[in-house]
Amino acid sequence: MTQTILVTGGAGFIGANFVLTWLQQADVDAKIINLDKLTYAGNMENLVALKDDARHVFVQGDIGDKNLVTELLTKYQPTAIINFAAESHVDRSIHGPEDFIETNIVGTFHLLESVRSYWNLLTEIAQQQFRFLHVSTDEVYGSLAVEEPAFTETHTYEPNSPYSASKASSDHLVRAYHHTYGIPVLTTNCSNNYGAYQFPEKLIPLVIANALADKDLPIYGDGQQIRDWLYVVDHCTAINQVLAAGTVGATYNIGGWNEMANIDIVHTICDLLDTKRPRTDGKSYREQITYVTDRLGHDRRYAIDASKIERELGWKPAETFNTGIQKTVQWYLDNSAWVANVQSGAYREWLDKNYSART
Ligand code: NAD
Ligand code: DAU
Repeated sequence: MTQTILVTGGAGFIGANFVLTWLQQADVDAKIINLDKLTYAGNMENLVALKDDARHVFVQGDIGDKNLVTELLTKYQPTAIINFAAESHVDRSIHGPEDFIETNIVGTFHLLESVRSYWNLLTEIAQQQFRFLHVSTDEVYGSLAVEEPAFTETHTYEPNSPYSASKASSDHLVRAYHHTYGIPVLTTNCSNNYGAYQFPEKLIPLVIANALADKDLPIYGDGQQIRDWLYVVDHCTAINQVLAAGTVGATYNIGGWNEMANIDIVHTICDLLDTKRPRTDGKSYREQITYVTDRLGHDRRYAIDASKIERELGWKPAETFNTGIQKTVQWYLDNSAWVANVQSGAYREWLDKNYSART
């Protein structure tokens, strides 16, 4: 069957990786409508490989713009929507939560309202086949102590940052639109992603960019916070499998079975760069590591129990952290122009805002 899908936030890090990988396996008649507001995190350079691909239709706009979304739904009649659009950076949510409330909560609500009107007018069979897949995060579950078991899908929601609280709110709205109106929704809660096209405000690309620019590598607090890292393309294949075979109304946790402390992530990157692009003075990039004031309310540990998606849908990550981080570091070395182009004045202002007051 020819498929038309609507992706929101498809010019950002995970969304762009999803659009690129989805079109690689889609047939010639497939279509992907990519709705993205192009905030600081959205970047058309991520999609440059698709500039001559008629299957990709890019529309700049807001998920909260009901007239625009309704127009797109009516015109293209997508059989699925994958909602990546969000404000996604925890530190930015601490400095200024408002955009997070606006996009992640109010925007998702307006998007759901547009979808509800569209879905109500579909035939019964089209209603049954339709899917709204909401891309969420493990951060909604809160923080784990070292000895606690990993998050399952039934773990209590205990979001701790304005970002995670806003994502938790959107998850609840999505759930309610299934329970109340019968919209066929799916929700995925994924752990930390890394890979190509990640904006260098997040730990891994920030450390790579700073290392190569001879800048400090800032470690918040004691660097012993634990995250569960997943290569972004593995996240995209998981989303595809949930879309194809997930149980309507269900949530699926997605993770890499790969818990690591932040300081170990940074050491790994330094060691790779020492081999691939040694410093001219012969010293290790580890010399640039600097411990700085901790993030407010910093969650200590996240860990995903991904056994449900493995058991029910047969999904497993293809990359280990070792293979994924090698590819990622190499991508940033090979794409220095991409990195330079996103380091605008606004980016430098953000670095100043987030790091200059830390001691
Ligand atoms: P990102 O910040 O790189 O990209 C977000 C994209 O959404 C950008 O292209 C931006 O322009 C767009 N956008 C923002 N507000 C919008 C709006 N109102 N209307 C339309 N488009 C808008 O984020 P990401 O890291 O790619 O994350 C994508 C999704 O995955 C988010 O929902 C995030 O919560 C979730 N998630 C991210 C991770 C991770 O490690 N990065 C892990 C789990 C879940
Ligand atoms: O867990 C999934 C989440 O992962 C996603 O929902 C978010 O969208 C995504 O941004 C990410 O959130 P984190 O806060 O975990 O990612 P970040 O890269 O900002 O930070 C990773 C860890 O590194 C975290 O413990 C904070 C720490 N850190 C981060 C930065 C930017 C530092 O020590 N120094 C830094 O400069």
